[in-house]
Amino acid sequence: MTSITCIDDLRQLARRRVPRAFFDYADRGSYSEQTLRANREDLQRLKLRQRVLVDVSERDLSTSIIGEPASLPFSLAPIGLCGMQHGDGEILSARAAQEAGIPFTLSTMSICSIEDVAAAVDKPFWFQLYVMRDRGFVRALVERAIAAKCSALVLTLDLQVLGQRHADVKNGMTVPPEIRIKNVIDIMTKPGWAISVLRGRRKNFGNLAGHVKGMDSVNSLAHWIAGQFDPALNWKDVEWIRSIWPSKLILKGILDVEDARLAAKSGASALVVSNHGGRQLDGAPSTISALPKIVDAVGSEIEVMFDGGIRTGQDVLRALALGARSCMIGRAYIYGLGAAGQAGVAKAIDILRQELDVTMALTGTRRVAEIDGRIVVDDAR
Ligand SMILES: Cc1cc2nc3c(=O)[nH]c(=O)nc-3n(C[C@H](O)[C@H](O)[C@H](O)COP(=O)(O)O)c2cc1C
Repeated sequence: MTSITCIDDLRQLARRRVPRAFFDYADRGSYSEQTLRANREDLQRLKLRQRVLVDVSERDLSTSIIGEPASLPFSLAPIGLCGMQHGDGEILSARAAQEAGIPFTLSTMSICSIEDVAAAVDKPFWFQLYVMRDRGFVRALVERAIAAKCSALVLTLDLQVLGQRHADVKNGMTVPPEIRIKNVIDIMTKPGWAISVLRGRRKNFGNLAGHVKGMDSVNSLAHWIAGQFDPALNWKDVEWIRSIWPSKLILKGILDVEDARLAAKSGASALVVSNHGGRQLDGAPSTISALPKIVDAVGSEIEVMFDGGIRTGQDVLRALALGARSCMIGRAYIYGLGAAGQAGVAKAIDILRQELDVTMALTGTRRVAEIDGRIVVDDAR
């Protein structure tokens, strides 16, 4: 791992180790990928102010996220099918997050189930919920998250219909999944991956298999899921979830000021400025360009989190400078998982930590609470 110095190194390694269909599933975005690219480009455009002769010998990267102490100002975002990047991927990622002292979010579309992860870690994690048409199933899922002592529910709002990712269609990552000769050959050239997935405790959607009547094969479940995303999802559903979930609620997928105002009045503890990592509405603005307006409108009423395009500690600093209280890390940790399992996720977190630490020092910043618009050149706010 000594030759791995940045997230892109982990990405290159993941590309060699993970079968093409699953690597592309993680790496690519929807349609022409304009929003995917904009997330990165707009972050990189923000220049940081170099400050000198500030005593930065004592630096502290810790903070609190929705009231929970965190050793770093970021959490791991919910990612579907982690267990297909590496066997038991959700458990390994949760363990790496807990060792680093940051929150882990388990996706509804995970391979390991809520119960699997709860049994494998000591501290509470967050659970991400998709509201399916089958509200009885949703209620049962929420009850399982309560029983597993999840400390927050992350309700994802920006996937009421599915944006097409061309690479997924071309690779047969469709619903139901297609078994293609080229995929089988590809898998045969990735024995490390194949062994880890074969040894993993599950090969199916862990939160769904055995919980949806008559739907136990990957194919039947994939069909069920495709018919379950609910285009009728609306603010009344958020009220309903609020009424059945007793703990902290995080609304994920807010990109518009008007929606942010409604989110602030919903009783949620936090919102995540997110466009699903450029995987849903192609042509939507980058999250970093949307962030300042949302912070100005509701930042004093609700905790604002940020995700989309973070690949360096400098990016974390940029988002905090523009008003985010914390970030969620998506692909950056998934590349680590695909590259080297738990050690790879730990490496990704450590790379971001070190980059953030040095960048704070070079911008004359000692503590997370000190980070504000003064850190960027021509304060974009
Ligand atoms: C492979 C992959 C799967 C994802 N699955 C989910 C999911 O199940 N639920 C969800 O709310 N967001 C999901 N997301 C979106 C992430 O939570 C997050 O918003 C996004 O990855 C942030 O952008 P970044 O990858 O550029 O950091 C997924 C993203 C990726 C890359």
